[in-house]
Amino acid sequence: MEWMNQIAKQPTWSGEISNREAKEQVAEQVSHLVKNGDTIGVGSGSTSFLALEKIAERVHRGEMDILAVPTSKEAEMNCQYFGLKTTSLLSAKPDWGFDGADEVDQQNRLIKGRGGALFAEKLVMASSPKTYILVDKSKHVGRLGENFAIPVEVDPDAIHLVEMKLAEFPVDHIQLRMAESKDGPVITERGNVLMDMKVTNVTNDMEKELSAIPGVIETGLFIGYSVEILTV
Ligand code: A5P
Repeated sequence: MEWMNQIAKQPTWSGEISNREAKEQVAEQVSHLVKNGDTIGVGSGSTSFLALEKIAERVHRGEMDILAVPTSKEAEMNCQYFGLKTTSLLSAKPDWGFDGADEVDQQNRLIKGRGGALFAEKLVMASSPKTYILVDKSKHVGRLGENFAIPVEVDPDAIHLVEMKLAEFPVDHIQLRMAESKDGPVITERGNVLMDMKVTNVTNDMEKELSAIPGVIETGLFIGYSVEILTV
């Protein structure tokens, strides 16, 4: 049976999307890379939402069928809204994936995780032979960390330990991400908190160094993954 309630009939992105026109163009581009039978990692955020919409249009026109591996509850709900079949990393390995990013530098190093989905986004990216990163020009930076802090997902019991360890890096500012429609901190889909770390100089080792801190679950630094950047 199909859910007929109101929430089942609405997408998660109904409001304003920044740089929408550019994001729609890059979404259109990636939709043409989909082949019948593909299992695709589906990223989170507004650009991925627009890409999913374009892919769903092709599926509904009968051009192909796909299986989606969502990287967040948000992505899963949008797959359901667009009527796309989903699976998980337990059941399938993606043929490829797509996702957005907050920043991309000249070496294709990324900051992700504005939406708090970094943990599953990294799992899906690391499981996929290739991930298309869909960005508008505003995401390209000369220096990683120029506009965005690096999100660090942390076990709630480790907040103080991790803050102390993060302070040993050349860090400008560390902040516990606070929720907007809930009192207290943002709690991620894995039950953790997020610490946003503003850094001036991101080294290639930093992702591994941050991950080695006890209590750090994941970071929003994506360095050395198999990505191709699609920009308009
Ligand atoms: C989600 O946690 C993020 O990693 C997003 O992929 C990233 O913030 C890009 O989002 P937009 O496509 O909405 O700009």
